[in-house]
Amino acid sequence: MAQEHGAPYSYIPPQMYNNAKGGIVGWGTTCGTLISAIGFIGLFVPLEEQGPIVNELMAWYQQASFPYYKPSDLEFKQTVANSTLCHVSVTTFLNENNVKVNSDEKIERCGGVSADVAKYTIELLNAHFSNKFKAVHSPQGTDDCVSCHSTDIQGKDNCVTCHGEKDDIHDF
Ligand code: HEC
Ligand code: HEC
Repeated sequence: MAQEHGAPYSYIPPQMYNNAKGGIVGWGTTCGTLISAIGFIGLFVPLEEQGPIVNELMAWYQQASFPYYKPSDLEFKQTVANSTLCHVSVTTFLNENNVKVNSDEKIERCGGVSADVAKYTIELLNAHFSNKFKAVHSPQGTDDCVSCHSTDIQGKDNCVTCHGEKDDIHDF
């Protein structure tokens, strides 16, 4: 983009999103791949049209069986995070594969997730600019909960991943 179209793309320093790694320098908050991706959605898409595209990306991430992209023959299971948080996403992968956070499997997995999220984001942007964007994912594990709690909390991520099922929390 920078080479073909110049500014503003030529002004974007590649290190701008380096801090996103590990869910913001290892804090395990929002998956860093999403932080970079929504930055680019914000760069290209008009303000009022960004929300539905970002919602689609977040909901897709929550349910994706990562990583789809595996460049080597390292063996490991793909896992679904049911969350957009780095902590939940990575730890689910570590537990299901019985590996540590500094393992080659984890490093390759997160590299693969970066490629997956970049690819899906480009697909969403291309769909948007050819007027073909259609949301196909919606947040999971929230419907029942927000029917009662919509004004008590802020959030769209899977409630059940953190709180457990309704019957585990309530007496009714
Ligand atoms: C039918 C309405 C209803 C639904 C559906 C519902 N809740 Fe609740 N929830 C309540 C009420 C009422 C309380 C009690 C509020 C209070 O403690 O003052 C409550 C309390 C809670 C609390 C606080 C518990 C505590 O110990 O303080 C959490 C957390 C919670 N709900 C999460 C959820 C989640 C997650 C879901 C979906 C899996 C859910 N709720 C679905 C009505 C609902
Ligand atoms: C990343 C984990 C996480 C997710 C996802 C999450 N919560 Fe929570 N939630 C918490 C924590 C931590 C607290 C504060 C401690 C507590 O009350 O359990 C909390 C508190 C609450 C409370 C109690 C508020 C109060 O007044 O005491 C409710 C109700 C609640 N969450 C509902 C939800 C609903 C509904 C969703 C889904 C839309 C959701 N949560 C998603 C972690 C989470």
